[in-house]
Amino acid sequence: MINIVLFGAPGCGKGTQAQRLKERYGIDHVSTGEVIRDEIRRGTELGRSMEEYIREGKLAPDEIVIGMIEHYVTEHMNARGCIFDGFPRTTVQAEEFDKILAKHGLQVDIMVDIHVPEEELVRRILLRGKDSGRADDTSEEVIRGRLDVYRMQTAVVADYYAAQGKYASVNGTGTMEEVFGRIADVIAGLK
Ligand code: AP5
Ligand code: MG
Repeated sequence: MINIVLFGAPGCGKGTQAQRLKERYGIDHVSTGEVIRDEIRRGTELGRSMEEYIREGKLAPDEIVIGMIEHYVTEHMNARGCIFDGFPRTTVQAEEFDKILAKHGLQVDIMVDIHVPEEELVRRILLRGKDSGRADDTSEEVIRGRLDVYRMQTAVVADYYAAQGKYASVNGTGTMEEVFGRIADVIAGLK
């Protein structure tokens, strides 16, 4: 069983790498951003309450995202483990996540922090925005705002896992295969 927190700024490749890790290791993948976008697509009450946060590139309230993850862990955790993509994004979320996992006798094994220079992040997201249909991908102003939110509210979560000796940083530039190789090396080092 291996639980991986895939971390890093918007556009660093969390979703891309999560998909590959899922295939390689046969573990689950949950992205809180995807869960929120799905709620919005389905027009649920929760989705409607989230629309503005997503459109403006702001973080959704902790209690709502923590509730989503608690539901996910309770319903889906399988014996092999899971990749948590885009969660936790605040220290409060990280603390509550530990408690939720502990209730199920589980824990985070490693946070993998994917580093990419800011201009490359903006370039990647603008490119994806041409056909992603994501409300937060099209305007450079919103994209830069998401990067500010990451720097000011989220980056600190790395310290939480570093303090537990569960932190690894990888270079997120180069081809998708190269980045995957670096993450696979970190995972191999865990065993
Ligand atoms: P979320 O959906 O998590 O978005 P994000 O963190 O902004 O990250 P992205 O999904 O944009 O990028 P990614 O790192 O997954 O990169 P990707 O693989 O797609 O969150 C969206 C919103 O939901 C938040 O702003 C917030 O409002 C809310 N939210 C979510 N979680 C929350 C939480 N925990 N608390 C509160 N609010 C929350 O790659 C990006 C692009 O680059 C793709 O086109 C890809 O093909 C390309 N690419 C990938 N790797 C490479 C490479 N090596 N070389 C070149 N291109 C590459
Ligand atoms: Mg993503």
